[in-house]
Amino acid sequence: MLITPRQDKLNKIVILNPKGGCGKSTLVTNLAACYANRGTIPAVMDYDPQGSTIAWLDRRSAELPAIHGIAAYKKSMQATRSWQLRVPNDTDTLLIDSPASIDHDDLRELTRDSTSILVPVLPSSMDIHAASRCIADLLLVAKVDRSDRKLAVVANRTRKHTKSFGKLMRFLDSLGIPIIAVLRDTQNFVRSAEQGIGVCEMPPSKVRPDIEQLENIVTWLDAWPDRKRDSTSTTAFNKRPGVARSLLNRIQLGSA
Ligand SMILES: Nc1ncnc2c1ncn2[C@@H]1O[C@H](COP(=O)(O)OP(=O)(O)O)[C@@H](O)[C@H]1O
Ligand SMILES: [Mg+2]
Repeated sequence: MLITPRQDKLNKIVILNPKGGCGKSTLVTNLAACYANRGTIPAVMDYDPQGSTIAWLDRRSAELPAIHGIAAYKKSMQATRSWQLRVPNDTDTLLIDSPASIDHDDLRELTRDSTSILVPVLPSSMDIHAASRCIADLLLVAKVDRSDRKLAVVANRTRKHTKSFGKLMRFLDSLGIPIIAVLRDTQNFVRSAEQGIGVCEMPPSKVRPDIEQLENIVTWLDAWPDRKRDSTSTTAFNKRPGVARSLLNRIQLGSA
């Protein structure tokens, strides 16, 4: 069973979608680079046995702004689990990269005390189907209350004006979950993975549209205390359980 740190006042951001290749590690590493360049030291916690986020951090030059890395997928015999997973005191932002397969208990543990949950989604039918199941589990199993407004989607590797993009947008719209950014399909993210840097650390002229979208995400993430305070103005899914149930039915029927 998976364990996550319990620390007060920690901005715990979870990037989640059991579908491999949808962009979880890309988002975690690029957001971490954005936070690091603001002058605070963020931490990334990698629960995925593939260890892509920790491998990215290993490739990162020591001259770039620091990011703490916690390899949660590794089980150390020398240290207690809570020692291994401790978040350094100088860190107030934790970005969690999650594994491809995740059971219900782990989903509840991973999202417990989270301030924000981001679901990256690729615009293919299979990916949209997997994302809808993931969102249904977040609402019905992990009991994420939509009135907390901590759940958002990032559309990844999209080409606007394509049929699948339109389908993705209609689907998310029908759920009433915000799409806070649309990341284009670009080699900039591939290079960022290879070089241990964030796109925000690349020459601005080459990455302007990508930085714009990442900034949209950071702005949304930064607003978590306000979202929490101001949660009464939304129509809650959990106050309308029928919506979540009908989503699940649609998934089971294979029409989502
Ligand atoms: N917007 C994008 N444009 C181009 N390549 C991308 C983009 N997002 C992710 N990738 C690439 O797709 C692959 C899978 O992304 P990754 O973040 O590792 O997915 P996950 O962590 O969900 O398995 C990686 O090689 C990554 O560099
Ligand atoms: Mg990954």
